[in-house]
Amino acid sequence: MNLQQELQPYLKIIEKEINKFSGDRQVTFFYEPIRYILRLKGKRIRPLLTMLCAEALDVPPQVSRYPAAAVELLHNFTLVHDDIMDQDDFRRGRQTVHKKWDVNAAILSGDGLMGLAFRKLLDTPQGDVTAMARRFTEAMLLICEGQGQDKMFETRSSVDSALYLQMIERKTAVLIELACELGAMVAGAGRDTVLLLREFGYALGLGFQIQDDVLDVVGDESHLGKKTGSDLSMHKQTLLTIKLREKTGSDQFFDLPLKEFRRLLDESGVLAETRQQYQDLFDQARNKAQQLPASPARERLLALTDSIKNRDW
Ligand code: IPE
Ligand code: IPE
Ligand code: MG
Ligand code: MG
Ligand code: MG
Repeated sequence: MNLQQELQPYLKIIEKEINKFSGDRQVTFFYEPIRYILRLKGKRIRPLLTMLCAEALDVPPQVSRYPAAAVELLHNFTLVHDDIMDQDDFRRGRQTVHKKWDVNAAILSGDGLMGLAFRKLLDTPQGDVTAMARRFTEAMLLICEGQGQDKMFETRSSVDSALYLQMIERKTAVLIELACELGAMVAGAGRDTVLLLREFGYALGLGFQIQDDVLDVVGDESHLGKKTGSDLSMHKQTLLTIKLREKTGSDQFFDLPLKEFRRLLDESGVLAETRQQYQDLFDQARNKAQQLPASPARERLLALTDSIKNRDW
């Protein structure tokens, strides 16, 4: 299966849907940064998950495009504000919004993206939209909690892996879980199926963030479209720093050059261990997806899971 080719029709619908919104175009301070971030090349993993989960339950992309676009819009809101919080200058191979404009424009356009996300979700033509909006709202608040913990942990050396996992569950896994769950909800699926897809998304989401943290250290900037070493320079707590501290009894590595840090992770075995941890989570996710009824959409979902597992971007 050529996944890239198979995903093209879905991606086309996603691009069209997220860029379709009304408003007073003369307020360029608000709308230009929104247009900008939405036109940059994101992987669109979350809306693809919503659409493929829905399709695996017989709901076509023309219906699931609403919750799918809502999830991607919410994700873009978190990115624009995350880049302010993490002081990052690059995203998706381009300047971040607060760098290209300023922090005010980034705050405001992030706020706007959140509004557009809710508006899109509320336009969903079938399923229990109130229940969807409730889940969406809870997820949004959990992301803020996770992002709050992420910032608080920058100055806390006592963070252990349980606390780290709670933080990434909130800031990242909850949204990927929601993306999958909304696919089930728009299909009006029963409890067991909703739970199955939640578990799929949860494992995928946890793995995705651990992998993101690893890529921040060992990834290639031109593929990632972000600057590597950002987490180290911000003193972020990740599984890598926690394991390394537990192994060596010291956390005096935050001010090392990235290359040195990478060497420590490699030689201590922490890098290999952490990679194994996210690979296991992706395998768990795969096992869940495999429990869906056989269909072309399920095969695409499995192939997407594998391509995320092997990603370098
Ligand atoms: C970045 O998400 C934020 C994390 C949760 C790690 P993605 O890696 O999905 O970013 P885009 O949307 O493809 O740019
Ligand atoms: C992303 O975490 C979490 C959210 C945006 C909610 P990161 O800060 O690691 O994401 P990147 O690496 O900047 O994309
Ligand atoms: Mg961050
Ligand atoms: Mg960041
Ligand atoms: Mg990151």
